[in-house]
Amino acid sequence: MAKLAPSILSANFNHLGRDIRGLKEHGADYVHFDVMDGQFVPNISFGLTVLADVRRETDMLLDVHLMIDRPLRYAERFCEAGADIVTVHVEADTQENTLEALRTIRRCGRRASVCLKPRTPAEAVLPYLDLCSMVLVMTVEPGFGGQSFMADMMPKVSRIRDYIRQRGLECELEVDGGVSLETGPVCAAAGANVFVAGSAYFKAADQTAFAAAIHGM
Ligand code: DX5
Ligand code: ZN
Repeated sequence: MAKLAPSILSANFNHLGRDIRGLKEHGADYVHFDVMDGQFVPNISFGLTVLADVRRETDMLLDVHLMIDRPLRYAERFCEAGADIVTVHVEADTQENTLEALRTIRRCGRRASVCLKPRTPAEAVLPYLDLCSMVLVMTVEPGFGGQSFMADMMPKVSRIRDYIRQRGLECELEVDGGVSLETGPVCAAAGANVFVAGSAYFKAADQTAFAAAIHGM
């Protein structure tokens, strides 16, 4: 059964508490929380204070996607603010610092994860895989919600699924960007099991039916 992680980047921030409570009511699995610093990506979203408030609002699993330069600087603070999963980009720092960020997240008792931008090849996960509870494959250029799904990322998803199998790891495989009821089945066929959906979920006429459809993929 696939899991649904709605991205609250597409929520209504005047009613964030209401939208967060809605995720649980509609049967979503994780809350996807996109942190953007205006450096690693050309957009700024929200950070530690908002995460701490969201933590107080829900007992759902908080899936924090750090689109920030040198995430090692903040890894521990996002754990303390209430993240359950912390994802760092492999492109955001040196291999040594990325490994240290993953170890820091695990020392905090949280799930560590790495993310690949569209132009980063599958094999870039290999140095990190044994430390990861999840791998995130971007299916758009990170930075903005509402972009078109890149179907050409599917071979990369499949290769990473193979790496996970070959090593016998309990590692989830998440896709993020342009995921909808139309593109979801393609992701499931490639081996993804956690689907981030921002605009498609928040625009859905029936969010409970949307979650149920993802669960059936
Ligand atoms: C993009 C973010 C995504 C975004 C997805 O940089 O990482 O999580 O919110 O939004 P949609 O589903 O609208 O593409
Ligand atoms: Zn994201």
